[in-house]
Amino acid sequence: MKIIVKENYKEMAASCADFICAYINKNPGRLLCFAAGDTPLAILKKLIEMQETGRVNLSSVYYAGLDEWEGLGYEDKGSCMQVMQDNFYGPAKIESERLRVFDGKADAEAETSAVLDFIKDKGGIGLAMLGIGMNGHIGFNEPGTLPDFEGGRVVLSDNSLNVGQKYFDKAQDLKYGVTLGIKTLVAAEKVMLVASGEKKADIIARSLSASNEPALPASYLADHPDYHVFLDKSARA
Ligand code: PGA
Repeated sequence: MKIIVKENYKEMAASCADFICAYINKNPGRLLCFAAGDTPLAILKKLIEMQETGRVNLSSVYYAGLDEWEGLGYEDKGSCMQVMQDNFYGPAKIESERLRVFDGKADAEAETSAVLDFIKDKGGIGLAMLGIGMNGHIGFNEPGTLPDFEGGRVVLSDNSLNVGQKYFDKAQDLKYGVTLGIKTLVAAEKVMLVASGEKKADIIARSLSASNEPALPASYLADHPDYHVFLDKSARA
């Protein structure tokens, strides 16, 4: 595990974008999987700027969705699809053939099969950029998830449901999510975990000092051979 600590969120985001840019330039044709959520936003913005200045061609790779709230689609502010389309796929001009995300309004198991097939067809995940929830979740792999979970429909934890309301413009009555599972994420060639802010310091400290602990899903990444944790100073207590 490599831990990269930057002075602040902006510097952390720039460092993550450099890392992703280098990966894409070296690995055209591979598939990337980016978490939605707040933390990746400045990273995604930076990647788009890098494309505009000719440093990277974001259409030289493929993209798969990580997770989605069951019941929400693009028209729902705060859905993973809306966040990623408006903050990355749209402005980066990624054509629809290059990506497969979860549709939260469709059957969760059928969506999972389709996303997993897309990933397999492209040779597996090359680079996964994951965030960490306040309860240690990665994607919607909630505490208690077992390591052999490939992906599918999950019951969301109260913590994820409560924290998740920050993304929405109206109260959403949600119960389930759909996600790539631990087994699929751990199989990625390279994994990044990104976290920012004091509020993440405790869960980061606990997750990084554990290994393969179902109560702390991010700890399943501990033994990954190419694992990079990007933090700002305040997330590193
Ligand atoms: P956040 O979400 O980046 O909005 O904190 C993290 C996550 O739940 O994965």
